[in-house]
Amino acid sequence: MLWKDYYSPTTLDEVLDLLEQHAGQARIMAGGTDLVIELERGLRQAPTVIDVTRIPDLDAVTLDDDGLIHLGPLVTHNHLVDSNIIIERAFPLAQAAWSVGGPQIRNRGTVAGNVITASPANDTITPLMALDASVTLASKQSRRTVAFEDFFLGVRQPALADGEMLIDIAFPAMRETERGCFIKLGLRRAQAISVLNVAVVLDFNGDTVTRARVAMGSVAPTVIRAPQAERVLVGSVLDDDAIDETARLASRAARPIDDLRGTAEYRREMVRRLTRRALRQLRDATERAGWPQKRAMLWGPNGPQPSRLAASAVHQNNGQQPIETVVNGKRVTIRNANGKTLLDALREDAGLTGTKEGCAEGECGACTVWLDGVAVDACLVPAPRAHGAEVVTIEGLAASENPTVDDVHPVQRAFILEGGVQCGYCTPGLIMAGAALLRENTSPTMGEIKQSITGNLCRCTGYYKVLSAIERAAADLS
Ligand SMILES: Cc1cc2nc3c(=O)[nH]c(=O)nc-3n(C[C@H](O)[C@H](O)[C@H](O)COP(=O)(O)OP(=O)(O)OC[C@H]3O[C@@H](n4cnc5c(N)ncnc54)[C@H](O)[C@@H]3O)c2cc1C
Ligand code: FES
Ligand code: FES
Repeated sequence: MLWKDYYSPTTLDEVLDLLEQHAGQARIMAGGTDLVIELERGLRQAPTVIDVTRIPDLDAVTLDDDGLIHLGPLVTHNHLVDSNIIIERAFPLAQAAWSVGGPQIRNRGTVAGNVITASPANDTITPLMALDASVTLASKQSRRTVAFEDFFLGVRQPALADGEMLIDIAFPAMRETERGCFIKLGLRRAQAISVLNVAVVLDFNGDTVTRARVAMGSVAPTVIRAPQAERVLVGSVLDDDAIDETARLASRAARPIDDLRGTAEYRREMVRRLTRRALRQLRDATERAGWPQKRAMLWGPNGPQPSRLAASAVHQNNGQQPIETVVNGKRVTIRNANGKTLLDALREDAGLTGTKEGCAEGECGACTVWLDGVAVDACLVPAPRAHGAEVVTIEGLAASENPTVDDVHPVQRAFILEGGVQCGYCTPGLIMAGAALLRENTSPTMGEIKQSITGNLCRCTGYYKVLSAIERAAADLS
């Protein structure tokens, strides 16, 4: 049992009341991509979970009349990647969001959750630091705004008091004369946390830098700025000497440690190289060169649809409140699953064992289902989150309940015909990801097909046949 009481409030006021009533016992849950794992591993205790994802209108990215961009507490990484405001006026943040996990993680994980977890390796913190962001925190008694530079007290230590909720992240939109970029070094290109990352935002007058902000992640207990490097940049033209000197000073500001992902020495050297690469990109105006024109979101043709409860709900483990949900088009009542993940509830209580558990921590995508039309990892979704929602599992993809090869879903048929299955363990998740892609993009390029399965691992097929199968299904559907 991961928690005792699970609340789904539908207003902010209710959240603040609940935080006060359950002082010291309650934890806010947004996407759950950090919190569910912490609870599973026993790293955190939270007898009371307050799931804030049913509160309407908290997922907006807006630009106000003062030129400030605001992110609501339910803005996910995929919301950022899809936002023209972010792509045009806060490009390093769009790049950072695109580098997070895979599509299923980006569909659930929020920027607020990333910030509150406060790991120095968390990717959105670095560009937000370079963009001079601040957070607004609300409790029953007060409301306060804290600059990013004052918000991170140490490794995973945000300056968030018990009873507070982050309700806004704000920062100035980049002006026309400003340019910026974010570069991440991971052990692979998806589903990998940063070995280190760098964000640079510069303002120019002609070729001369008039303002510089250089931020670095995973090189100190918190994300840090490199003030000496910034000072050297101001007044310079970005020639090779200025770039090399700035990169050297950024590397000197780093205070990394040795860990599993790299030694301190390696990190210091890579700070130098990444900073140099970022500055060269900004000098040559090539920072947007690799930005994909179409991005695999796996959230359906119309983007994420609001999933709201008409009224707030509470699911207590010692209570009788069943989870009333719709699975594969049928109304389903699930009892005694209030303290479980959706994956366990589907497999153990709804009898739907097609959805597999590979890792139980968001890494493998074997548990991919669609929650209100959006592809998610069911192992990181609390079962009561399905109350009043719609879930589609692998069993619901085919046109009939006992399909033949002729009436399975086109992606399922293509997997059979292309030999995209060996042991079959990863197959349901890959098919749910591929089918999600084809709902939003009927003629994907091979690059987009690859993007769509970056949240899924297969240990057998080597992926080529899987990619061919999704390509074939797209051709069959067009
Ligand atoms: C497989 C995998 C890959 C990942 N890859 C990356 C990666 O590449 N880069 C990266 O940076 N991260 C990565 N992550 C981490 C994770 O996805 C992010 O940190 C995510 O943004 C957290 O957001 P969430 O909504 O899921 O937070 P939750 O898990 O819901 O919450 C996280 C913390 O924030 C608190 N919280 C959430 N919202 C609020 C609020 N509004 N007010 C107060 N407290 C709040 C919660 O109580 C909890 O302590 C990965 C995670 C997984 C499982
Ligand atoms: S991602 Fe859910 S079981 Fe691996
Ligand atoms: S077919 Fe065996 S894990 Fe993918």
